[in-house]
Amino acid sequence: MSDLVVWINGALADPDTASVSWADHGITVGDGVFETIKLEHGRPFALTRHLERMKRSAASIGLEFPEESLLRSAAAAVSDAWGDRTGRLRITLTGGPGPLGSNRGDATPTLIVAAAPMTVLEQPTDVITVPWPRNERGALAGVKSTSYAENVVALGRAAAAGADEAIFANTVGNLCEATGSNVFIGIEGRLITPPLSAGPLAGVTRDLLLLALEAAGAPALEEDRPMSALFEADEAFLLSTGRQVQPVRRIDDVTLRACPGPLTQTAAKVWHAAYDDAVDP
Ligand SMILES: Cc1ncc(COP(=O)(O)O)c(C=O)c1O
Repeated sequence: MSDLVVWINGALADPDTASVSWADHGITVGDGVFETIKLEHGRPFALTRHLERMKRSAASIGLEFPEESLLRSAAAAVSDAWGDRTGRLRITLTGGPGPLGSNRGDATPTLIVAAAPMTVLEQPTDVITVPWPRNERGALAGVKSTSYAENVVALGRAAAAGADEAIFANTVGNLCEATGSNVFIGIEGRLITPPLSAGPLAGVTRDLLLLALEAAGAPALEEDRPMSALFEADEAFLLSTGRQVQPVRRIDDVTLRACPGPLTQTAAKVWHAAYDDAVDP
């Protein structure tokens, strides 16, 4: 069984030869949106929530969104071909072939659905902070856009420092998010994550964890905190489709007091109890 499955514009394709136009606006200017979805036992986890967010992302950048039935049948075709393994399903929608400048043409959008291996990260990890702010007031705030070069740069800096993720402040110096995950900190017994108004992506995992914590009687707070709160935190964790309650050990050169701390352990327990057997919560 191949380690990649690809569907492009209507049909499964050979991953070695599948391609899009050199003039695709997703390639030339990063004009597109995407989702990364966990495949477990051959089924996409929380597909409805991911499609809803993708629809919002596309609307934010004025990209025509395909019929949901097309996305679901493409996701099913790729998941079936992927089989009963854990993996990553990536759905990418771009402006399609277009002008070489930033103005969009009138081509049909390009739709790509692909599956690849994914290991869910839950082991303690080290992170860095980066000096480049997330713009919580920008046109792409909260959009899962293919314009991810800022994340590439930040992750490059993290890798050079021997760390695994990079955390951004927003333009007013408050904690925002990491390159591909949401951030939770534990301070004085309270679990806190930045509100969506601070500019982080509305993580599907974040939404689901907030709901499960509330239901378990251990709610987290969505509150603005200055970036310095990271260094006063007793504990912290990263959260995303690929990092399910991943405890943070170090932030820059500060080792946190607890890893995993008690709030992180509770969050992990609540997450697994609520969603380990769920398909489309
Ligand atoms: C910038 C950013 N923040 C947060 C997340 C976490 O979102 P989710 O839980 O939907 O994976 C992601 C996902 O990749 C992301 O790219």
